[in-house]
Amino acid sequence: VKVVVTGAAGQIAYSLIPRLVDGKTFGDKIVDLCLVEIPQVVSKLEGMVMELEDSYFPQMGNVTYTDNFEKASHDADWFLLVGSIPRGIVYEGKKIEERSDLLKINGGIFVNQGKAIGENGKDNAKILVVGNPANTNALIGRNAAGKDSQLWMAMTMLDASRAKSVISKKAGSNISDVKNMVIWGNHSPTMYPDIENAVINGQPGSVVIRDMDWVENSFLPTVQQRGKSVIDARGASSATSAAKAALDTIIACENITEDGDCFSAAVASDGAYNVPEGLICGYPLITLADG
Ligand code: NAD
Ligand code: LMR
Repeated sequence: VKVVVTGAAGQIAYSLIPRLVDGKTFGDKIVDLCLVEIPQVVSKLEGMVMELEDSYFPQMGNVTYTDNFEKASHDADWFLLVGSIPRGIVYEGKKIEERSDLLKINGGIFVNQGKAIGENGKDNAKILVVGNPANTNALIGRNAAGKDSQLWMAMTMLDASRAKSVISKKAGSNISDVKNMVIWGNHSPTMYPDIENAVINGQPGSVVIRDMDWVENSFLPTVQQRGKSVIDARGASSATSAAKAALDTIIACENITEDGDCFSAAVASDGAYNVPEGLICGYPLITLADG
């Protein structure tokens, strides 16, 4: 399997890349990596490749790096589009507070990358957009690619994992006891983590959690604003948890979903749930036997 990762010298990538080849994400498949960065920092990837070589990864195949996305995109199965600027930076004299404010900085990246993926990626390639604003960037990339057989996703798995963590603490159960966790809408403060349809210890969330005041005033804002809380505490945006969520999205797509469960990602709407067609929206997804 060939995986292209952009932003390969960044924070998320440092947690993400080694785990793509550790035999857990893609099982026993041999994983070829193509790491992409901007010209100013691409040479740093030589160090990343050295560390990968020094780490004893039997499933690791061919590893290359480049600042040429077009070249990297040929025949890739997976594209992890992480490369983009996180919020918190000062741009044109103003601090970037919301993910949507990143659109004017990051949006353009996804036009050329989208075109290259449409032209050169495998027909059944899967594309996970991590860079913010993730939903809009995915829309831009998908439109530029113009190939419906490729699956474009914006990452909402991190929001789902955050929601599971908060729910499991409230319910006094293990995080793995929370299933069917859907994040509706956008990876933004308007996202809707659906506690009602979650399944907690085999019971509907609406039965287990009856404290609506807690849902409205604690659960929802905690999950919706968790990215900002991490930035405030860490001085940098979430990285290791974002990497884990990207890996979990790949695993969810590569394996049949268990009965009674689903996973979260934002994909182009086919009109389901009355979401306008073509809009990238967080949905409950399952993977079937045919992939
Ligand atoms: P970072 O600044 O540490 O790394 C980003 C890297 O991207 C940098 O090395 C930069 O040189 C590179 N880059 C920029 N433009 C590029 C391009 N055109 N091609 C290739 N590489 C390029 O940032 P990070 O912490 O790794 O975060 C990356 C992005 O992920 C940010 O936009 C952040 O907001 C977003 N993010 C999303 C989620 C989510 O749940 N969807 C979670 C966390 C972070
Ligand atoms: C997150 O949710 O942690 C990321 O989208 C980073 C951010 O800006 O909040």
